[in-house]
Amino acid sequence: ARTAAVIPAAGRGVRLGPGTPKALRTLNGTPMLIHAVRAMAASRSVSLVVVVAPPDGAAEVKSLLADHALPERTDFVVVPGGESRQESVKLGLDALPDGIDIVLVHDAARPLVPVDTVDAVIEAVRDGQPAVVPALPLADTVKEVVPTTDGSPEPVVATPSRARLRAVQTPQGFDHDTLRRAHETVTEDVTDDASMVEQLGLQVVLVPGHEEAFKVTRPLDLVLAEAVLARRRA
Ligand code: C5P
Repeated sequence: ARTAAVIPAAGRGVRLGPGTPKALRTLNGTPMLIHAVRAMAASRSVSLVVVVAPPDGAAEVKSLLADHALPERTDFVVVPGGESRQESVKLGLDALPDGIDIVLVHDAARPLVPVDTVDAVIEAVRDGQPAVVPALPLADTVKEVVPTTDGSPEPVVATPSRARLRAVQTPQGFDHDTLRRAHETVTEDVTDDASMVEQLGLQVVLVPGHEEAFKVTRPLDLVLAEAVLARRRA
C-alpha cells in the first residue's frame, strides 16, 4: 500500500502572537514545518509528503524544503492552502497522484510526533480501519458551557465523564477513498478530519497517541517544544 502524508501548514498561528505564519517559526533554529515534514518522512512507509503552504507562501516553503536535508526516498510537493484548515487539507488531497492507498493528515503544528506513533496509525489503516486517530486521556476535567463573548462568567451546561473522553492528535490516517469522499460530502466546519468520516457513518478508531505529539499553539508550547528537542539531543 502506498502512503502519502498531507501537512496543512497554511494557518496564521494567531494564538502564538504576531509574526510569521506559525509553521515557519523556528524551534531550536529549524522551522516547525521542517520538523513536521521530517517526522512524516521518518516513516519508511511514507513515500510522498504534500505540504500545504500559506496561500501566498508556496515559493518560500519550496525553497525552505530545498534548504534542509530530507530523506531521498521521499517525494515532496508544495501547494498553496486556503482560508480554513479543511479547505487546505482538500487542496492537499487534490495534489495526490493516482495509486495512493493510505493518506495521513498531519498538522504542521505538531512537529515532534515520534515515528512509532506515525507507524502505529499506518499499521491500523493497513489492517482495514478506514479512519485511525492517535489520542490520549485527558489530564483536565472538561466542562461544556454556553460561551460568552463579553468576558462575563460562562454558565456550565454539563460535565462529561473524563474517563470517556480523549484528546486527539495527528497524524490521522485514512483509507484514501474514504477521506476523499468525506471531504466531498461534509461541508460544515470541523476541527479534525476524522469527524468528517464519522459524519459519513463510518467507524473511527483510536490508537495510543504520544505526549510529544502535542500541538504548538501558545507561546508556552514553544518553550516545551524546544525543551523536548534539547532532551532528544542530550
Ligand atoms: O489553527 P489550528 O492550530 O487548528 O491549525 C492546525 C493546522 O492547520 C496547522 O498546521 C495550520 O497551519 C493548518 N491550517 C491550514 N490552513 C488554514 C488554517 C490552518 O493549513 N487556513
